Amino acid sequence: MLLIRNIKALINTESTPVQTPIKGSQLAHLPTIENAWLLIEGDKIKDFGEMSSCPSLDIETIDAEGRYLLPSWCDSHTHLVFAASRESEFVDRIKGLSYAEIAAKGGGILNSARRLQEMPEEILLENALQRLDEVIQYGTGAIEIKSGYGLTVAAELKMLRVIRQVKERSPIPIKATFLGAHAYPMAYRENHEAYIKLILDEMLPQIAKEGLADYIDAFCEKGFFSVEETDRIVKAGAKFGLKPKIHTNQFNCMGGIQMAVANQAISVDHLEVLNAEEMDCLKNSNTIATLLPSAPFFLNDHYPPARKMVEADLAIALASDFNPGTTPSGNMPFVLSLACIKMRMLPNEAINAATINGAFAMELQQTHGSIARNKQANVILTKKIPSLNFIPYAFGSNLVDRVIIGGKLWQSNK
Ligand code: NIG
Ligand code: FE
Repeated sequence: MLLIRNIKALINTESTPVQTPIKGSQLAHLPTIENAWLLIEGDKIKDFGEMSSCPSLDIETIDAEGRYLLPSWCDSHTHLVFAASRESEFVDRIKGLSYAEIAAKGGGILNSARRLQEMPEEILLENALQRLDEVIQYGTGAIEIKSGYGLTVAAELKMLRVIRQVKERSPIPIKATFLGAHAYPMAYRENHEAYIKLILDEMLPQIAKEGLADYIDAFCEKGFFSVEETDRIVKAGAKFGLKPKIHTNQFNCMGGIQMAVANQAISVDHLEVLNAEEMDCLKNSNTIATLLPSAPFFLNDHYPPARKMVEADLAIALASDFNPGTTPSGNMPFVLSLACIKMRMLPNEAINAATINGAFAMELQQTHGSIARNKQANVILTKKIPSLNFIPYAFGSNLVDRVIIGGKLWQSNK
């Protein structure tokens, strides 16, 4: 048992389980208990309350001395397994090339795929565990990881098997997403049908047989997968029990959102561009809008219209999109800063979006995403800070003092 006393404020407490993702104006409501205690038993949160009711127990105790305690970040969109960084494309973009131009030349995702195809599983695993360790230090306590840098039957399976090994070694829960439809390999540029057949007839059955994925994703975008192609892939995934989480509206509005909603997607991710019709469609759905502001930050592009989305009563989650091409960072506190600074989300809205709504976007809301009795004790203890708003305000500072994972003080072993 572990007792944490004198917590300045316990953030995002839940007395009765939240049944649906937090939407619209509710996002600004962040249930908080000031001057609080938290009791952990085993790997679970046992109880919490105000200091006036703090139990006196002869057990391991942490005096939080005025620090804040939050649920760990739930990062529902990452590409954490990859072979190599892509700084040369970063420099090409500084010189004026666009992301689409680099991709059209066989760079971008195809560059990452070539490198991953050559790299042995052990090294991919080692690198991924190192990155996982890093993001846990930033306070991430649950994470989703996608394939999509394999793009051959063998390499997609290799990547998903690496994700499974990361899962087996990870102290935090991991959801795996199959993203075979990330880009068309060069050899299939003129023959989409053949690559889709590979996905449908060879990748999906084997992935299902080995139980390698929880979700299916596709990059629905001009120059990548059309709405019709994505629809086919998503429907095929559903036959194998994989629910969709879809990359769409990063650069163009093409109907990806309507298609994803019609297929009951758990989430649609990116939404740097979003029109009124799409917003309406999301409003009348259970699909979460997952925003990834580190991507437009890195690409120097424009940000999703988060304020309009809050006004339209949408459920918004925030995630990192950690990947070598558009977001070489899994730093969730920085995502929160961008959400507030660049998308004008209030700190409370951003925290809800990065915790409980992120949990919903991975279907982990029963066990993660808030401070609630019986939930997993994955929490963040901040440094001494003047207010909660200081977290997104002081961008770039590491304000996470300690993380507790599964009820234990977590220590990096890297
Ligand atoms: O979410 N947009 C598609 N996929 C990734 C980027 C992949 C890459 O460039 O390697 C993203 O931004
Ligand atoms: Fe992504």
